[in-house]
Amino acid sequence: MRTQVGIVGAGPAGLMLSHLLHRRGVDSVVIDLRTREDIEETIKAGVLEQGTVDLMAQTGLGDRMRRDGFVHHGINLAFSGEMHRINMYELTGGRAVTVYAQHEVLKDLIAQRLGDGGDIRFGVSDTTVEGVTGDSPTIRFMHQGQRQELECDFVAGCDGSRTYTRSLMPLPEVRSDFFRQYPFAWFGILAEAPPSSDELIYAHSDRGFALISTRSPSVQRMYFQCDPETKPDDWSDAQIWDEIQARVAGAGAALKTGTIFQRAILQFRSFVCEPMQYGRLYLAGDAAHTVPPTGAKGLNLAIADVHVLDRALGAYYEANDTGLLESYTSTVLKRVWRAQHFSWWMTSMLHRFSEATDFDLRRQIAELEMVTNSSSAAKTLAENYVGLPLT
Ligand code: PHB
Repeated sequence: MRTQVGIVGAGPAGLMLSHLLHRRGVDSVVIDLRTREDIEETIKAGVLEQGTVDLMAQTGLGDRMRRDGFVHHGINLAFSGEMHRINMYELTGGRAVTVYAQHEVLKDLIAQRLGDGGDIRFGVSDTTVEGVTGDSPTIRFMHQGQRQELECDFVAGCDGSRTYTRSLMPLPEVRSDFFRQYPFAWFGILAEAPPSSDELIYAHSDRGFALISTRSPSVQRMYFQCDPETKPDDWSDAQIWDEIQARVAGAGAALKTGTIFQRAILQFRSFVCEPMQYGRLYLAGDAAHTVPPTGAKGLNLAIADVHVLDRALGAYYEANDTGLLESYTSTVLKRVWRAQHFSWWMTSMLHRFSEATDFDLRRQIAELEMVTNSSSAAKTLAENYVGLPLT
């Protein structure tokens, strides 16, 4: 088999890249270890930046998002016994976020690609990539019991944080890794319950962080900071509700509880690998960088990466111009590091660190007061939260 761009990974980066390339007439094949059901059912975060929303709408992926997503013009910060709203819409001149789950975005992308005759191979195994420093790299894999060989002009490594493709860039000769661990995780739940708030609540409390989010009028998404060793079954439903309630109660929020039908522990990590390209291999999304979930940037960064990569590949195929491909890493890293800083900042401002002293707690409150009382500080938060425009 031969294709122009071989894409390893059918997550947001890989599928959106395949979709954008198709729109400009560039062929791709997408492969993934997981089944279609796995991909369409795995629960992830659910906040789309304005740029992600606009790109989906402009490229024919907007119907279900407009129908089932929720546009939020603000977020709430709960601390020191009070609730403070950040009016993102006003602070950013009319930009907002849309709450629409990542697996719904993936369903839309898969349906669109298959409808357009796209080639996605689910459930592959034994993937290897060879020849990325030559002119025609090859991807080999097993699919439905058959050994397959896919020759490509380029390989896009979109295989998420458990990436294989990143390992094709030798450490330390070619690649440097930058990372930071955090001494906590998030306990995430999905519950059959009415919304407890019209907009998201990010809560700072003596007991640790909590986040009230939503999925639909009848399904709610909530998180609370926990020890990274916690197992999903360590907490009973009643304990979970009591804990989240205790963390938001001071600010006057009253939780509407219900049946918890999904629980997961989300590990926290900040990670970037540089460069994001090596020969004819280009990394995008979590294969190259991970953010802690506090700023809800993961999916949005993946989309921003492939938006740049699509244009760079377009310039190559349409005008034999390699300039944008050469500058891919430096272009996307600016946004990646901006999001790294923002996610780290939101995380540090809102969580309780095990070694934190009373000084640290008071400093966090002072920072939250600045962000809610100073319009320029609030604007900084709002601009980063709704996301910088895709350029
Ligand atoms: C979510 O709804 O899953 C969500 C919302 C905001 C975040 C992270 C996750 O910062």
